[in-house]
Amino acid sequence: MTGVIRGTGSCVPSYIIDNNALSQFVDTSDEWISERTGVKRRHIAAKETTVSMAAEAGRRALESAGLSAEELDLILVSTISSDVILPCAACEVQKELGASNATCFDLNGACTGFVLAYNTANAYLAGGICKNALIIGSECLSNLTNWHDRGTCILFGDGAGAALLQGVEGRTYRPVTHSDGEKGSALTLKSRHDCNGITKEINPLSMTDDAYFMQMDGQSVFKFAVRKVPEAIREVLDINSIRQEDVTWYVMHQANRRIVESVAKKLNEPLEKFPMNLQEYGNTSSASIPLLLDEMNRKGMLRSGDLIVLAGFGAGLTWGATILQW
Ligand code: ACO
Repeated sequence: MTGVIRGTGSCVPSYIIDNNALSQFVDTSDEWISERTGVKRRHIAAKETTVSMAAEAGRRALESAGLSAEELDLILVSTISSDVILPCAACEVQKELGASNATCFDLNGACTGFVLAYNTANAYLAGGICKNALIIGSECLSNLTNWHDRGTCILFGDGAGAALLQGVEGRTYRPVTHSDGEKGSALTLKSRHDCNGITKEINPLSMTDDAYFMQMDGQSVFKFAVRKVPEAIREVLDINSIRQEDVTWYVMHQANRRIVESVAKKLNEPLEKFPMNLQEYGNTSSASIPLLLDEMNRKGMLRSGDLIVLAGFGAGLTWGATILQW
């Protein structure tokens, strides 16, 4: 048994901030952001939340698969920006969709999160534990972004993407995933819920403390990504005995155009095999891969039998690649 994607969906906030608007309140420019990252604009939540976007993306994936919410037996939400700690976002999505038969839980794998969620759901399907799994990446990163830090705020955006995975007879491809906790300090975000009422006299909770927003050593993350992502892609192709020429698309985490270009170059593959939409959405962490996959699906870019490599990297540090057949 293995999982095949039967439907996709996505949802992004309607409010858009372009680079020029951003440069009104932080010392940057459209020219710098476009050249260094490829990002032109990002969608920012106004009324939307991580759960509302996840539920809408999930609803659209169900529609595109022609399945009802009651047929779901697993909902997995990948997020680092859950609206609340309890209940988990997946249970909230279950409530929104009326998916009363599903087992629901969240997964925190940062920007590698969707790849990890896909692998987890696929293991459930391959093991016969469930039949229909809804996997969602949803992020409201604007809540976690220091809008005065030009090193990070130019990069991120909000949105959600979803895929409906169904278990069928067929080949299961082995994924490749790695973690390096020793290098975790390259990308951090302190919990806003770290106040212990007994041991701390003063509540350390302070919105002005930079540690409560995403902190990133951009150059370290950049160097890590351009070294480790091509390695993981080569490794995943190798262990599954697939040649690069058999791969139709590489759907990479959308962090920075230069990272995608570097990976394509290191693999000696044409950039055309690496679709991008980061210019429109910025880095939406675990939402970026399913958001792009849905866009490709709706544009009719995906043909039955296409081999697609998904590749993610991010905080942890974590990275990995997985193969799916359309
Ligand atoms: N506008 C204008 N100037 C800027 C800006 C800005 N927004 N940001 C930095 N600069 C300046 C710096 O101060 C520096 O000036 P100096 O030379 O006078 O000191 C200069 O531009 C170069 O800065 P660098 O940090 O060296 O710029 P770099 O080319 O490395 O680009 C960037 C920075 C875009 C953040 C890049 O390092 C990057 O994309 N890193 C990867 C980030 C990423 O992919 N994260 C993904 C994981 S996310 C997750 O898991 C949630």
